[in-house]
Amino acid sequence: MNIIKDRLNRNFEYLRISITDKCNYRCMYCMPKDKFGSNYTFLKKNHLLTYEEIIEVSQTLKNYGLKKIRLTGGEPLLRKNLDLLINGLKHHAQIDDVCMTTNGSLLTRDNILIFKKNGLDSITISLDSLSTSINKIVNQVDSAHHKVIDAIDHVINIFGKVKINMVVINGVNNSEIIPMIEKFLDKNIELRFIEYMDVGETNDWVMHDVLTSQKIYDLISSKYKLEKLYDKKDSTSEKWKIKEHMLDIAFISSITKPFCSDCNRARLSADGKLFTCLFSDKGYDLTPYLRKKDKYYNLENYFQKIWNNRSDQYSKLRFSIKPIKNKKNKVEMSYIGG
Ligand code: GTP
Ligand code: 5AD
Ligand code: SF4
Ligand code: SF4
Repeated sequence: MNIIKDRLNRNFEYLRISITDKCNYRCMYCMPKDKFGSNYTFLKKNHLLTYEEIIEVSQTLKNYGLKKIRLTGGEPLLRKNLDLLINGLKHHAQIDDVCMTTNGSLLTRDNILIFKKNGLDSITISLDSLSTSINKIVNQVDSAHHKVIDAIDHVINIFGKVKINMVVINGVNNSEIIPMIEKFLDKNIELRFIEYMDVGETNDWVMHDVLTSQKIYDLISSKYKLEKLYDKKDSTSEKWKIKEHMLDIAFISSITKPFCSDCNRARLSADGKLFTCLFSDKGYDLTPYLRKKDKYYNLENYFQKIWNNRSDQYSKLRFSIKPIKNKKNKVEMSYIGG
């Protein structure tokens, strides 16, 4: 295996793969309904990478340090026969850790069992509230959260644990922080509070809408005793245990405490473009390398060059460097895969 470094001496280890840009939710922070309506043009089916192509990219990048893959979207469960992809990534490309982030609305006990049987290592579920009315404001869907809460229990039964992502938007779901903790207090869950980020160009992000991790921490610690847990070097989150309970909590603070200096991630869009940062405006098209229109195309060399040339650290610089502050063409989260 070749260990490659980018211009800031960061390794490559982690690939987040968006397998579809479509979703059955319209979260206000990701796919706001007024911008992702019936006029929005999603990727055409024949432009999507096939599962064989995704597996080929993964197998190639394994030679350059790839250890972990996270399947995302859009909503990954909207693609059919996901078990075949999971199986290929785990058993053919031999990726150590194959995970998935989903809104949970399409998970059932049966498909979770099938995913596990085919090699999926863990599932992260997004859930922003326990209230029907607040969820409706956040994601525009009626009562899907009942199914999501059932799915959380199924994932715990089948995988032993689950991570839950809660994006906190100031003035929208702050009131749900404590109820979410109370609901999951004695389950094997890591509940992660995510600072609302300025991804893409459609969510009209303003700093006022961010509830900082520090404020969330202060709120929680006024009610519960917290004990610090160990954080891995390349982790996006800072973890705590709620003392005398099973629940762990974590904070993902891309706004107030960026984690660019250890960022080992690349992203692959559903149509085969590779991005070296969540906030990129440009991806590198891998399809000519996969479809080998020219026998001299070599995916390994191409990837190595891209990674060696990488210098992204958007979150770290977002408030300080003018061209980054004023960046205008950031790709959408639903396209690039979170
Ligand atoms: P693990 O580290 O594998 O637990 O997962 P994760 O936290 O990377 O993935 P998940 O899909 O659960 O994402 C949680 C939040 O972190 C989402 O809001 C992501 O958009 C955000 N996130 C993930 N990776 C990055 C990153 O490299 N940079 C930034 N700024 N945010 C990220
Ligand atoms: N800011 C922070 N997190 C976001 N997510 C989607 N859009 C945003 C945003 N603007 C989260 C989703 C999902 C994860 C992949 O990213 O809730 O859990
Ligand atoms: Fe869909 Fe996830 Fe985006 Fe919400 S955050 S619209 S569930 S892809
Ligand atoms: Fe990595 Fe870009 Fe996120 Fe920084 S902002 S952690 S460089 S993906």
